Amino acid sequence: MIKVAPSVLSADYLNLKEQLSALEEGKADWLHFDVMDGHFVPNLTFGPKILNDMCKATSLFKDVHIMVDNPVTVAPWFENADLITFHYESNDPVPEVIKTIKQAGKKVGISVKPKTDVTLLTPYLREMDLVLVMSVEPGFGGQAFMSDMLDKVKWLKEYRETNNLNYLIEIDGGINAETSPLAIEAGCDVLVAGSYVFKGDIKEKIRTLKLASIRVVYEADKCRTAAYDQGKLIGECDYLVEGNMWNFCHTEVNEEYKGMGIAAKLVELLLNKCEEEGHEVKATCSYVKRYIEAGK
Ligand code: DX5
Ligand code: ZN
Repeated sequence: MIKVAPSVLSADYLNLKEQLSALEEGKADWLHFDVMDGHFVPNLTFGPKILNDMCKATSLFKDVHIMVDNPVTVAPWFENADLITFHYESNDPVPEVIKTIKQAGKKVGISVKPKTDVTLLTPYLREMDLVLVMSVEPGFGGQAFMSDMLDKVKWLKEYRETNNLNYLIEIDGGINAETSPLAIEAGCDVLVAGSYVFKGDIKEKIRTLKLASIRVVYEADKCRTAAYDQGKLIGECDYLVEGNMWNFCHTEVNEEYKGMGIAAKLVELLLNKCEEEGHEVKATCSYVKRYIEAGK
């Protein structure tokens, strides 16, 4: 399943505790923490104290993105990070930064700004847990998605397959309901989203991003609607043809996908098909029974 990493750069700090709880309730996967030094990017953000305090309110995986000139110095400050991503364009030698982050016992990621050629990362990809493609100029939330960055994602995906590597591909900047399906289609594993998640209903926004990788389709030959996550079957709603009736007999969604509204989508699509084709509905499946009754 696609991982969603809300960026707390866009959080409302006066309501941080509530917002961190909403991230957990909304089943966000990671917490994306943007560290900016005012030199590498034209903005300043947070130091380790803020991350340490946030750790008291959330147990989400800490995905720390350091946009700094001197990652060898800065990375070890973030003791509570689970993964630290630094920039290829920083001033420190890449092998030294990798060594520093690994010695601190963290997973390591590398990132490229929009103007940097992603193939320059080739010598380091074998050692990487994650590669972060910036889809805006780093520094600020709320900028427009640069869709030409998806070519970098495609290249990273192909390179990983060809060379049997394991890094995750993450994208950061301008991710929302419209751009997330494009990023997933190109091959991203982790979506960072700041302003989109924190403006409005946080839980609903996370759900929308997570659903972006899921397709619900009707399969007449199998008498069912089926939900797929990037090609993998993760749910279905089956029916039996009984004369002029379709008997909705079974609805199932894989455990890890429960609570995302997928079962409702499966039933809704099947009810539409049933109506379109002029059949009557019968429901022996208890979920469908409840669904229909709730709609009345
Ligand atoms: C930008 C940061 C991003 C930022 C994304 O330099 O690295 O993580 O928070 O914000 P949105 O999702 O609003 O583009
Ligand atoms: Zn970031």
